[in-house]
Amino acid sequence: MKDSAARHSNDAIISSDLLRQLAYNEKMAELGKISAGVVHELNAPLSVIISASQMILREDGVPEIVQEMIARIRSEAQRLSHLTKGLLNFSSHDETISEVDLNLTVDFILNFLNFEAARRAVIVLKQFDHTLPTIHLDGNLLKQILLNIIMNALQAMEESGGKLLVETAHGEADAICFIIADNGPGIPIETIDRIFDRYFTTKKPGEGTGLGLFVTKSLVESLGGNIEVTSRIGGGTTFAVTLPTGQ
Ligand SMILES: Nc1ncnc2c1ncn2[C@@H]1O[C@H](COP(=O)(O)OP(=O)(O)O)[C@@H](O)[C@H]1O
Ligand SMILES: [Mg+2]
Repeated sequence: MKDSAARHSNDAIISSDLLRQLAYNEKMAELGKISAGVVHELNAPLSVIISASQMILREDGVPEIVQEMIARIRSEAQRLSHLTKGLLNFSSHDETISEVDLNLTVDFILNFLNFEAARRAVIVLKQFDHTLPTIHLDGNLLKQILLNIIMNALQAMEESGGKLLVETAHGEADAICFIIADNGPGIPIETIDRIFDRYFTTKKPGEGTGLGLFVTKSLVESLGGNIEVTSRIGGGTTFAVTLPTGQ
């Protein structure tokens, strides 16, 4: 009895901040499920648009200007369909271990975050090593790692109209690595050791959960890799992730 009362009062102490955070996380999780449904709904009309435009393009006597417009409609619909299929796959909870191409995965995430980068006027530069071997892992984990680091970088460049560099390369031995560098405000020396801690955030409630880098580091390590950060105030932040290919 005494025990449960103590637990109760303890809950009351943590409730205001933590409850807000948990409520927010729960809302985002629900929204995620609803969005997955919406994305699923988009597939059918997109397929209709793609096949209808293909049929029109096969017709004789379609004026060239119309052909060009229809081809444009088809390619935009194909791009969206590719994105929605990728999103559905990404949102699934199933573990599918396969041979994953790092460059293609980076491209998928950059495509997905295109709007987030554009609305902050961030220029994205890619430097891919096209000779990389595939990695044997669950591709959705790699997507989540990339999403967390890149989203943080974009959020850090909120006002600066910054530049984001994503580089892929061979690591030591059988490893491959990627580097994500921004030219945002950098991380103060007093906090850099805490950024991977659970619940450490400098963002406003509702904007940050402080779980992104904690989860990212845990995922990277569970895959046998490692993550490092370097940062300079005013000079931007660079995350370097190394992953074994498992070959
Ligand atoms: N690229 C970056 N530039 C500056 N600060 C960063 C960057 N990435 C992470 N941080 C700092 O690390 C903190 C923790 O990040 P994270 O664990 O993803 O949580 P959240 O994004 O929810 O705050 C952020 O609040 C921010 O202060
Ligand atoms: Mg984050």
